[in-house]
Amino acid sequence: MCADRARLSIDHAVLPLCLCGLMASTLRGAAELFNKRTFTEIMATAQTPFELFLNEHDEEAWSATLTVLLRSIHEVDKNGTQIWFAFFPLSLFHALKQADDSQKLAEELLLRGNYYLKDQLNTSHTFLYGHRYWLYVKEAVEKHAAQFNPGDDLSLSDQILSVSQELAREMKIDQSLLVGITTIAFMTIQQVGLEAFQVKAEMMIDKKHARKSAEHVLRERAKDDSQGLFGFLKTIDKKWTVTYDENNETAKYRMHNIQDLAWGAANDRSQNWSEINPRLREGPIPVECRSASCGTCWVGILGGGEKLSDVAVREGKKIKEFGYIDTAEPKPLIRLACQAQTHGAVSIVIPPWNGVFGKYLKALKEVD
Ligand code: FES
Repeated sequence: MCADRARLSIDHAVLPLCLCGLMASTLRGAAELFNKRTFTEIMATAQTPFELFLNEHDEEAWSATLTVLLRSIHEVDKNGTQIWFAFFPLSLFHALKQADDSQKLAEELLLRGNYYLKDQLNTSHTFLYGHRYWLYVKEAVEKHAAQFNPGDDLSLSDQILSVSQELAREMKIDQSLLVGITTIAFMTIQQVGLEAFQVKAEMMIDKKHARKSAEHVLRERAKDDSQGLFGFLKTIDKKWTVTYDENNETAKYRMHNIQDLAWGAANDRSQNWSEINPRLREGPIPVECRSASCGTCWVGILGGGEKLSDVAVREGKKIKEFGYIDTAEPKPLIRLACQAQTHGAVSIVIPPWNGVFGKYLKALKEVD
């Protein structure tokens, strides 16, 4: 009963208590659900030397690799690449894969929506500028995987840089535009397997948006709404635009100054949201509690993060418990939309799922 209420109730008072109870039982059950298949055994299920090489890298190794690569990623995709890695955490993928009953574990972690990368391997990164090169990147990474020789002894970051450099030369574009999306391609193979990765894909972005330069996209992200001739005199009646899909001109809503992002989204009555996606009740951002208790409303911040309020104590604590991000930064790339208030235009990404898994993964790590 309590678990059902935790999933379905919008009763602000009841929900946090239920979640606490549920999380406690989840943690107690962690040892049972975690079967003793090891990282090495997961590696053994991989088919090719390249997959075996990728599987030598756990979340910490990837985090270190990403830190190295960020220096080579174009500004337009620096945030997007980090957001993507937060949306598809390797440790959660491993936990589901290692569980005796992944469906049961998903229910205990309150996972809702589309959390498996395998179900969206060609569309999970449409918010990256580099997505427009995805078909070429796929081809280049597949070629690299086929020619991979473990004896070459190249690090993960060196391989990603080498593939993106070669492709940039062929395409006559700046390598920095390809590093982020190539990094994502490597991680995608690790989570979905090479065979699934090789399935043919189609271009997912329209020509009009594909033609925009990276500088154009950055300028659009930096732009604030004009408040009219005497806008500088306005205070609370200022209005800002929130863009939640940079590849769709209609994927925007307007909100009042110092409103939180979720509140502004709830005023968007332009569509029947629940028909589009059952996780949506009011507006394009899923919400349940509006009090940093459920974790439903997490979003990535592509641009304008500096115009959001600083993370308050409760948001900072809860977002770690949910498992979305572990940082003490005052303006991180992942926020709870029901807590982040804006005083300017922002560009966000709404993840396709939500859950409460931070404590569970921490417990698993300790068991390990
Ligand atoms: S709506 Fe529940 S955490 Fe924001």
